[in-house]
Amino acid sequence: MNDAAQTLRRILADVLDGLPPRQAATAVDRLISTYRGAPPTHAPILRDRADVAAYAAYRMPATFEAVRTALAEFADAVPEWTPADHTDVGGGTGAATWATAATWGGVRPVTVLDWAEPALALGRELAAALPELADVRWQRARIGSALAVEPADLVTVSYVLNELTEPDRVALVDAVAGAAQAVVIVEAGTPAGYARVIEARGRLVAAGFKVAAPCPHDDACPIVPGEDWCHFSARVSRSSLHRQVKGGSLAYEDEKFSYVAATRLPVVPAASRVVRKPQIRKGQVLLDLCEREPALHRTTITKRHGDLYKAARDASWGDVWPPAGLLADGES
Ligand SMILES: C[S@@+](CC[C@H](N)C(=O)[O-])C[C@H]1O[C@@H](n2cnc3c(N)ncnc32)[C@H](O)[C@@H]1O
Repeated sequence: MNDAAQTLRRILADVLDGLPPRQAATAVDRLISTYRGAPPTHAPILRDRADVAAYAAYRMPATFEAVRTALAEFADAVPEWTPADHTDVGGGTGAATWATAATWGGVRPVTVLDWAEPALALGRELAAALPELADVRWQRARIGSALAVEPADLVTVSYVLNELTEPDRVALVDAVAGAAQAVVIVEAGTPAGYARVIEARGRLVAAGFKVAAPCPHDDACPIVPGEDWCHFSARVSRSSLHRQVKGGSLAYEDEKFSYVAATRLPVVPAASRVVRKPQIRKGQVLLDLCEREPALHRTTITKRHGDLYKAARDASWGDVWPPAGLLADGES
């Protein structure tokens, strides 16, 4: 865990300590059933301090890890670049601002836009614990056709599209495409989350963006809609609130997410990306890859591939393949 992740865990534990356990668990139950219901809503879901504290303690470590994982893949595709400024739309309590600070370090001007005042207030409180977030403007704004997004190097939109009507989703993606050098959109790793990411990806490419991650190309996704969905996984330590709400004693859980990172900057896309958990068998590793073609392809790396086999044993779901410096010649 890096510094930002540790600081976030510590400060969220403090927030939770300030909330009676029963009130926190009740607020989480209500949020879970609201999200299971049918957002979009016409008023903020996060209504008061108990809601936002519960959201932050229960969901923010996971949304932070998902965004951080997506940003790390994006940063690898633009290694010379650091965003000079950042806007987080539907930023809530600021998970993506923490993830951006964890990815690039340093202090940069950040604007967080959200319609839920209690979320912005808690976000401001939390950010006071991280020196990199010394210059954040927490601004109330409603996402819709009237949303104005000021020019910014990086715009993040994490776990927000799900809460919007279709016209508002379109308006948001078009607004950020007009404002940003780089856009990173993260959604839940479900078929519906993936569908929203693919829709946004199409609009960004049509606006002249290049896809930097996870796709190794800008063409249509080779996944047949309804048959599968592209998603990844980030490991998150469970908080005491998680254990209280979900029961059991697992120390972690895996947050599944879908994402797209697209940019107007020059990018060298990956040759291919590992899109499933690698299967390690005796003397061989099976890798499911999305390739530049574009196509999905399962490759088998065996001991006779030498260094490539060693790399395959270390490869993780979501990684670029092959790793820099290794040629994939001779894979089957
Ligand atoms: C699930 S939370 C995600 C928060 C944060 N981005 C994260 O990743 O943890 C969705 C956020 O979108 C905001 N939101 C939803 N609809 C909105 C709208 N129409 N205008 C502004 N903010 C909105 C909510 O208030 C909430 O903070």
